[in-house]
Amino acid sequence: MTILVTGGAGFIGSNFVLDWLADLQESVVNLDKLTYSGNLKNLANLRCDPRHIFVRGDVGDRNLLAHVLDQHRPRAVINFAAESHVDRSISGPEVFINTNIVGSFCLLESVRSYWSGLPPADQTAFRFLHVSTDEVYGTLSKDAQPFAEHFRYEPNSPYSASKAASDHLVRAWHHTYGLPVLTTNCSNNYGPYHFPEKLIPLMIVNALSGKPLPVYGDGLQVRDWLYVKDHCAAIRRVLDAGRVGETYNIGGWNEKTNIEIVKTICALLDELRPKIDATSYAAQITYVTDRPGHDRRYAINARKIEQELGWRPAETFETGIRKTVQWYLDNSEWVEHVQNGSYRDWVSFQYGQEMVT
Ligand code: NAD
Ligand code: DAU
Repeated sequence: MTILVTGGAGFIGSNFVLDWLADLQESVVNLDKLTYSGNLKNLANLRCDPRHIFVRGDVGDRNLLAHVLDQHRPRAVINFAAESHVDRSISGPEVFINTNIVGSFCLLESVRSYWSGLPPADQTAFRFLHVSTDEVYGTLSKDAQPFAEHFRYEPNSPYSASKAASDHLVRAWHHTYGLPVLTTNCSNNYGPYHFPEKLIPLMIVNALSGKPLPVYGDGLQVRDWLYVKDHCAAIRRVLDAGRVGETYNIGGWNEKTNIEIVKTICALLDELRPKIDATSYAAQITYVTDRPGHDRRYAINARKIEQELGWRPAETFETGIRKTVQWYLDNSEWVEHVQNGSYRDWVSFQYGQEMVT
């Protein structure tokens, strides 16, 4: 048996593929465009593993999708592929529309065509799992209840609006065509292989290189942090036992202000990699102009997945953030690699195409 993962060279997707192949024998076809955030270094341990089949391609390429589906005949598709960074969506929304909306549409249509040609038992067993975000629900005031699955969609950024649109398409492909879909909406992930443009890895990497730690606005915005491996386990649980057509919110019950996160990282670095002059990394914290339209608070009510499917996060924030900081200290070569662009040269050489950035 085989599954098809899209975006499996990115942060969450690569953790998912690595964990899957560490635990299970089932092959993974990994279709990824290798944009600036997709990195085959994340999957270096699988280079000689015949269960991992990498295909460089775009979820918007329906010819390629038809070929890949026909050739590999997956029993499930897990869609991680997306443009994922809110700041980039503010400065350049178009690619978010193309990949997150049009790309998801193309993927749904290709999968629908493949699925409708399957024998009835395989059609029933098939799953299309769409990985989405808590940002589709908009922002919460300080004392509001955390996002539950029935909450209204109120996306505020070009990124979250594009993800909301894709969620609606997935829902419609189930209701209209009967495609057996599942949607997961999760909170902020952190952990290994996180591209250093997002808060946690950026702060670690900047701190170590003596750069400012840019905190947007007053730093009191709240995010609900989820260790990436817990997220991957939750996706597997939903894939195995989730009710078709349902959505599941996934979160770690770890609401923290941004400034708390940054100070925690500084304290961990002070302990694990003290500066020669014994000053704290916290001295590098710099308050900067706020993100336009910045959502104030996200928080996930994860009771549905806990009660229905018995999933619970294994990591607390304290254990997860320590592991994460240690991972970045142990993997400076990976950081250098994603920053200096040499992996892009390698990909161009390997695949004979210019990298899309
Ligand atoms: P990421 O940016 O690290 O990875 C995205 C991957 O998708 C990359 O490998 C990239 O090359 C690939 N990709 C982009 N455009 C593509 C296209 N047109 N065709 C094929 N592949 C393409 O993102 P991530 O943080 O790993 O997020 C994965 C998914 O999870 C996204 O759908 C994101 O919206 C969602 N999500 C992320 C978080 C988070 O905290 N990181 C939280 C909630 C939901
Ligand atoms: O909530 C889930 C979402 O979490 C995912 O859907 C997105 O793909 C993912 O990127 C993430 O979005 P955020 O915008 O919350 O993540 P980011 O790491 O960019 O920012 C986290 C918070 O930190 C946010 O309030 C903005 C703030 N921030 C971020 C950066 C990069 C700073 O204060 N300074 C920074 O330099």
